[in-house]
Amino acid sequence: MKIVYFSITGQTRRFIKKLGLSEDTFVEITQDYPDIEMAQPFILITPSYAEESPTQQCSQDVMNPVFEFMATGVNRTLCKGIVASGNRNFAGLYIYTAKELSAQYQIPIVYDFEMNGTTSDVEALKSVFKRLSDGAKLLVSEKQMYREHLEQI
Ligand SMILES: Cc1cc2nc3c(=O)[nH]c(=O)nc-3n(C[C@H](O)[C@H](O)[C@H](O)COP(=O)(O)O)c2cc1C
Repeated sequence: MKIVYFSITGQTRRFIKKLGLSEDTFVEITQDYPDIEMAQPFILITPSYAEESPTQQCSQDVMNPVFEFMATGVNRTLCKGIVASGNRNFAGLYIYTAKELSAQYQIPIVYDFEMNGTTSDVEALKSVFKRLSDGAKLLVSEKQMYREHLEQI
């Protein structure tokens, strides 16, 4: 199990460092090289950058690399869950990009946190990562794509 992430201002990268996992666990999507083809299951950790007009909400173009990554090869089928980083000050747009990806690819959001995460966010994500690596299956109901449950193993 890999952890694929994207970071613009460095907050998600800081969170990644705090996980203390081996370097080869991580794959970073960059603006210059978004079309990485994965060969193993992974969790995607993505920040959100969105905008809204009176008629629509959408992720900003700065997030295109993540969408390009997910559209590459069979990446979408290997993505076991999305972890969302955002900022609650964005209110209704909180973790919007992650929600957009989740809806587009029908992949559950397994966890969300703000900025570079607290100590408990780090512990929670390590636990999620371990359980998915050990073969836990996500139980996802059709009407509940956002708050999912990890099956006890
Ligand atoms: C211009 C700008 C727009 C943002 N838009 C959103 C947003 O729509 N929703 C959200 O939850 N957070 C939003 N954020 C907060 C970031 O997603 C959050 O700070 C995240 O941790 C940044 O991760 P990064 O530093 O790895 O890019 C925005 C931040 C900036 C600077």
